Amino acid sequence: MSTEPETPLLDSGFRRRDRSVQPRLLWPEYKSTLNRAPTQPLVPLSPTLSEITGPTFSPQEIDLIDRDLLQNARIDRDPLGERTLLTGRVIDQDGTPLCATRIEIWQANAAGRYQHASDNYQAPLDPNFSGYGCCLTDELGNYEFLTIRPGPYPFANGANTWRPSHVHFSIFGPAFATRLVTQMYFEGDPLIRDCPMLGSIPDRSAQSRLVAAFDMERSRPFDCLAYRFDLVLRGPKQTHFENRPDGL
Ligand SMILES: [Fe+2]
Repeated sequence: MSTEPETPLLDSGFRRRDRSVQPRLLWPEYKSTLNRAPTQPLVPLSPTLSEITGPTFSPQEIDLIDRDLLQNARIDRDPLGERTLLTGRVIDQDGTPLCATRIEIWQANAAGRYQHASDNYQAPLDPNFSGYGCCLTDELGNYEFLTIRPGPYPFANGANTWRPSHVHFSIFGPAFATRLVTQMYFEGDPLIRDCPMLGSIPDRSAQSRLVAAFDMERSRPFDCLAYRFDLVLRGPKQTHFENRPDGL
């Protein structure tokens, strides 16, 4: 059973999120929050029918190659970069695994550039790397992706602000309304310390839940290094999900 301390119940029936461990909505060091932080009390809205009835996914929709970013966009050679294995589990607050959960990831290439029309960073694209992968968790909630380690990239925030190497994660429950999105960082990355996005999470231990641990045991000799990142849906060790509304 969860030991997460509860915040006061609001008139709306929701509980406000604990901002001592969850990101501050207004955090001037992360300039985008100046434009998007709400200035009025939040209004809870019920999900629409289409948001709670789909989409549904079947295992037949996903092939093994979809979890292999070294191969799933390969044209004539493997993508450039550090071969990297990402593994982990999706679990609830009691450690119960979530099986057959669709996980999608997207990331920059080794030079720190996304294969996306709006990314105009001067670093080169890699024609053999799309930066997208997906898989379903197994019966124990495990997932696995083979990829390259993404490079850091600059972004318009301060005079010289860089995103640490990171991988975006989306996990679907049974419907769009239950989709959760977060970012994974790499243990030991010196850019983590000064990242204004991570800095919006006031609690250091809560920040560390977004940092994948280097995992030598799973590293494959003469092949790739490994990192481990578990996604915890709720409870005192919950992962920060950037799109989860207050009260859920
Ligand atoms: Fe990113």
